[in-house]
Amino acid sequence: MSLVHIVYAHPNPVSFTHALLDAFVAGLDDAGHQHSISDLYAMGFNPVMSPAEYARESRCDAALPVAGDVAQEQAALDAADVWVFVYPVWWSDCPAILKGWFDRVWTVGWAYHEPTATPTRKALVLCSAGQSVEHLRDTGLGQAMRAVMVSDRIFTRADVADMQVFAGSEGADPAQWELIRQQHLDQARHLGQTIDLA
Ligand SMILES: Cc1cc2nc3c(=O)[nH]c(=O)nc-3n(C[C@H](O)[C@H](O)[C@H](O)COP(=O)(O)O)c2cc1C
Repeated sequence: MSLVHIVYAHPNPVSFTHALLDAFVAGLDDAGHQHSISDLYAMGFNPVMSPAEYARESRCDAALPVAGDVAQEQAALDAADVWVFVYPVWWSDCPAILKGWFDRVWTVGWAYHEPTATPTRKALVLCSAGQSVEHLRDTGLGQAMRAVMVSDRIFTRADVADMQVFAGSEGADPAQWELIRQQHLDQARHLGQTIDLA
């Protein structure tokens, strides 16, 4: 049994992205895993780096303390076996609240420069996208999103990392989208059920 920590970023509790979160959590429950969630909008997470935080990062001064809300996020990540990020693609990246979460939580001394962060076994990125899989592939945007999230932000902080884009909510006719949507939700549940497999 694993402890999975989910970082979730969407403002609307009846969104497709929230349905993906629910399906994934149902899969975790099916397999008997425990989970915790940082629901960034619901928490009112402050994504704006303060001047003091900027000074700490830019000087690489890990001796300075981190903010309490940042320390809480780091503790939740340190305690978990698996990290999962769930969000919609906005302008070919994550929502600003999650970008700011990385700005503030990935601190010097915890995430980089002799990091104390406990590397996690696995990290998984689940995001919804309006564009089709083909568009994201043919424009290179899908590869760019993966490079930023998996190769840079997760990097060696997880033994195994993967990213799944649940694409196509825009442009499909409603009946067609309903079918694709259900396939996406089934796949998200399956990912929860099989999270222990590499
Ligand atoms: C501000 C904003 C920017 C978006 N940018 C993109 C984008 O760059 N690429 C894309 O495929 N979809 C983009 N979308 C579409 C969302 O990814 C899509 O609406 C979402 O995944 C659908 O799920 P939801 O109901 O959970 O919001 C954008 C949507 C918004 C609101």
